[in-house]
Amino acid sequence: MEHSQTTVTGTAGDGVKRVFIHTFGCQMNAHEGERLLGLARDHGYQEALCAEEADLIVLHTCAVRDQAVQRILSEVGRLSSLKQARPAVKIGITGCVAQADGATLLQRARGLDFVVGTRAVGRLAATLRRVEAGERVVDVGEGAYLEPPAGPARGATICAYVTVVEGCDKFCTFCIVPYTRGREYSRPAATICNEVRQLAAAGCREVTLLGQTVNAYGRKGGERGEGEVSFAELLRQVAAIEPIYRVRFLTSHPSHLGDDLIEALATIPEVCPHLPLPLQSGSDRLLAAMRRGYTVAEYLDRVGALRAALPQVALVSDFIVGFPGETEADFAETLAVVAHLRLASLFAFKYSPRPHTKAAALGDPIPEAVKGERLERLLALQRTIAAAHNQALVGSRQEILVEEQGEGWAEGRTRSNRRLRLDRAAPLGARVEVRVSAVEHGHLLGTLETAA
Ligand code: SAH
Ligand code: SF4
Ligand code: F3S
Repeated sequence: MEHSQTTVTGTAGDGVKRVFIHTFGCQMNAHEGERLLGLARDHGYQEALCAEEADLIVLHTCAVRDQAVQRILSEVGRLSSLKQARPAVKIGITGCVAQADGATLLQRARGLDFVVGTRAVGRLAATLRRVEAGERVVDVGEGAYLEPPAGPARGATICAYVTVVEGCDKFCTFCIVPYTRGREYSRPAATICNEVRQLAAAGCREVTLLGQTVNAYGRKGGERGEGEVSFAELLRQVAAIEPIYRVRFLTSHPSHLGDDLIEALATIPEVCPHLPLPLQSGSDRLLAAMRRGYTVAEYLDRVGALRAALPQVALVSDFIVGFPGETEADFAETLAVVAHLRLASLFAFKYSPRPHTKAAALGDPIPEAVKGERLERLLALQRTIAAAHNQALVGSRQEILVEEQGEGWAEGRTRSNRRLRLDRAAPLGARVEVRVSAVEHGHLLGTLETAA
């Protein structure tokens, strides 16, 4: 009975090698997952629709919260059973868990064939050759950031991501990212602009510049020197590339929201009024314990300057509840600041201690039930704020960039990054002016105004 599954899977005897990549985590990881797929394709693999059909299975992992390592190892265990029917199947771990845990993963999972860290992706082809020859390989590539090989032109997606800052040097006490993505590195502006030009030629109309602290751009980088540019200037250069209609960036750190960046946001027409700016807590005591490098007052001062210059900006933020030592009074300060900020949206997470980090020494003293209850209160508050934002949008005019369309409908995002569905078809990649007619279950619906 168990064997029935294996008869419909495998390479179907057509000699074609197939790869399946399961990506977890943040936008940067998703983008890197696409790069991994491109590299595997260059190495002769076609994309499989599921792990059961693949000769090469890659778990492209995230380590930021929860029991990441245990979950990945049990997934490897489950996938290893595929090897009973097809011993040639290879299984690998890439991404942040790979970088943080390296060789120990091979020891802990017998069915695992390779571990490739975030800084070694550029050598994937060489690793695959060794793996195919039967070796078990660990490459966590300590050292400099490897520019991804150029490869064939990427497909024409309307919206695309471009990494501008790799790694992070902030070492917030709760965060594993500096240990998984390595030191902060800014890619040269010329390299970034070339990539954007190629994307634009392939049909891309919106780019999102990526980095864990994207607005720290230009501070550090092996190849940087005289003549390199600030983040505000980088935005200007990217926005000037034709025909890129929109530029966004993700994620900004509050410590680097200078007046020049606010001015760029407010004055460059292509730069969208949408800013993810994680605050993490409304308590100065906790911000200090997290080593975030700013106070609540400093954050509010920057937001005030931003809103004075760009009143319609959609501000988005992240919060952690239940960091060690968080009292009810600290949490009340978080609620108060969230009520005040009137964010477009908010991401909130229960604190989870991470290996390697400074805060790991503090343990995890806040009971799970308290964390859960605080998370729910924070999300409930934001739901009321979001509902009010949605209602205020009804009747307004918004531009969408069409990303999907079908018979009698088209869908895209507004400049402030809200999804909006139009009640008629429109060409992919077109900018369309829409009148918001209703909100249904949090989704905006609209009718055609005039095509741009
Ligand atoms: N570079 C961004 C955040 C990257 S991680 C910044 O500086 O804000 C994305 C989010 O995950 C963080 O904003 C934080 O809210 C959450 N996060 C990170 N580490 C966490 C941990 N140990 N426990 C719970 N949430 C965490
Ligand atoms: Fe993590 Fe802090 Fe760096 Fe963000 S700034 S990635 S939270 S260490
Ligand atoms: Fe996760 Fe790594 Fe991103 S830890 S959040 S995938 S940088």
